[in-house]
Amino acid sequence: MDRSGFDSRWLSELKAKNDIVSVIGGYMPLTRKGKNFWGLCPFHHEKTSSFAVNAIEQYYHCFGCNASGDVIRFVMEMENLDFIDAIKLLADKCGMTMPEYKADENFVKQKKHRERLLALTKAAARHYYANIRTDAGGAALKYLRGRGIDDVTTVKFGLGISLGFEELITDLKKQGFTEKEMLDAGVAVRSDKNGRVYDALFNRLIVPIINGFGDVIAFGGRVLEKTTFAKYKNTGDTLLFNKSENLYNLNLLKKVKQVRGLKYVIMVEGYMDVISMVQAGVENVVASMGTSLTVQQARLIKRYTDTVYISYDGDAAGQKATVRGLDILKAEGLEVMVLKLPEGLDPDEVIRDKGIGAYYRLIDEALPLTEYKLKLAEHGLKDNADSKAKYVNRALTVLASLDTDTERETYLRIVKDKSGVSIDTLKRELFNKTNEVKSLDTFTPDIDETASVDENYEDVDPKYYLYARQVLGALVCGKLIEGEELTPYFKDATHKALYEYVLAKRAGNAVFSVSDVCSEFPDNDEITKIISVSVDEKNGEETLSFNLSKLKEHYLVAEKDALVKEIGAETDPDRKKILMNRLKSLVACKR
Ligand code: GTP
Ligand code: MN
Repeated sequence: MDRSGFDSRWLSELKAKNDIVSVIGGYMPLTRKGKNFWGLCPFHHEKTSSFAVNAIEQYYHCFGCNASGDVIRFVMEMENLDFIDAIKLLADKCGMTMPEYKADENFVKQKKHRERLLALTKAAARHYYANIRTDAGGAALKYLRGRGIDDVTTVKFGLGISLGFEELITDLKKQGFTEKEMLDAGVAVRSDKNGRVYDALFNRLIVPIINGFGDVIAFGGRVLEKTTFAKYKNTGDTLLFNKSENLYNLNLLKKVKQVRGLKYVIMVEGYMDVISMVQAGVENVVASMGTSLTVQQARLIKRYTDTVYISYDGDAAGQKATVRGLDILKAEGLEVMVLKLPEGLDPDEVIRDKGIGAYYRLIDEALPLTEYKLKLAEHGLKDNADSKAKYVNRALTVLASLDTDTERETYLRIVKDKSGVSIDTLKRELFNKTNEVKSLDTFTPDIDETASVDENYEDVDPKYYLYARQVLGALVCGKLIEGEELTPYFKDATHKALYEYVLAKRAGNAVFSVSDVCSEFPDNDEITKIISVSVDEKNGEETLSFNLSKLKEHYLVAEKDALVKEIGAETDPDRKKILMNRLKSLVACKR
């Protein structure tokens, strides 16, 4: 047995019988070029092939979105299956029988629980949906019609209504669901007062949130009348749903992409914006559900398209936090265009007030993100020297964060025309600013207080992950680092285990492929990331030693900081001396 719970010989046989080139070739066309097979990446949107399948090492890697793994991983991703079900599928394909499987008990439990919760949210969606067609639920239909939402659209989005505290709970109990399951799925909450559970979205209009696979994963609930409490309430974070990692309307977006392809996606803030736009015939739209954007959301969009149009409420798009959120999209390789909506209006209101034609005009007039930021820099600009200097300063800050000189050059012209300052002077100042920005380690994404705190260590120390993955990636693809013990430098559990695995293999002079590493660490995202590094052919000996020294340096700096802290807190003079000596040798080591 190995880590996966499967006999490793059985697993090797399974992989040998399911050659990765023919399995992937069954999903999409692949063309041989050099030692690899190439195709359009199925995991993100692209026009030229950057998805490579390596027949010798039996793994795939996309140079566009960095997806990679072995044949099992591919099936998991393609079919949305977990590890075991992917293996079942492959075993079926080649006529192997599944062995006695000693799966991790927790894993099986969690999987069953998830399936139960999905059945529950589906039942809840049906309940709310049925309500809207009863006499008592008629108020919701009337409300929607009053907002110009017709009944066809209501059905299309599966809109519903909660008719009270108890109705949903009673209905779900009748269907065999427990209170704990209702709480876990987030559809119910427990009352502090009497300890009873009740409908979390009682008396609200219900908008089911459906993922790309057609599962109901959460709900949004809107009050029908003006109230003093929150207009919307969403299902909290659950096993099925995390607001900051999802977007509203992904299911429809996926269909649109399959049927006609997507040139771009429009991003709005609210559920009602999406619903209203789809009714007006604009289907390539998703909503961020009112939070600031996250990397996960940016990646979701990148799977569907390369271009995103931001269509936020007429007052929100100028806010600093919003604009910074848009940088996240750009950092993930999306082209970002920004619409300027009339002050105080959201897309739904624009369409209702002025018609869809007016909205299309706003799309036509949208500005690329950088130009949009430059426009914002003009804010409050007067015709005097002081004001001009302020503008130049703001504008150059915008340009300093751009990736390429070409981009900078293009936009410098705009700044020159606006300010009258010569290109040479602007260039010089931009040069200074660019270095300033780089050394500051820019880009601190907004922290959304409402979002759950991600415990992932990577957020705490991204530099460590950067260097450690590079070094491990090099080791995995067979590069040697002789005579050096790297164990202390790795602090992630997977990194440690992988390093030990590589050492053990080398000690036994055993050959291993990338595919073997995938088998050894099944269903492990961190391994996938390391593999993407290992296949980057730019990763030569020189890069390896650079990354290694960076990793060491990073380790030493962290140790030093910890020591300095300890010394500061130490009151015993003898202990202090020992610590000081240790610090000295550390500093010496750094050089
Ligand atoms: P209406 O047109 O007023 O029905 O709403 P909208 O769809 O235009 O939404 P709005 O622009 O007011 O807010 C954008 C999104 O933020 C909503 O769709 C919700 O997802 C979320 N949101 C808005 N208000 C609240 C709130 O009070 N609490 C929570 N949790 N979310 C909210
Ligand atoms: Mn609105």
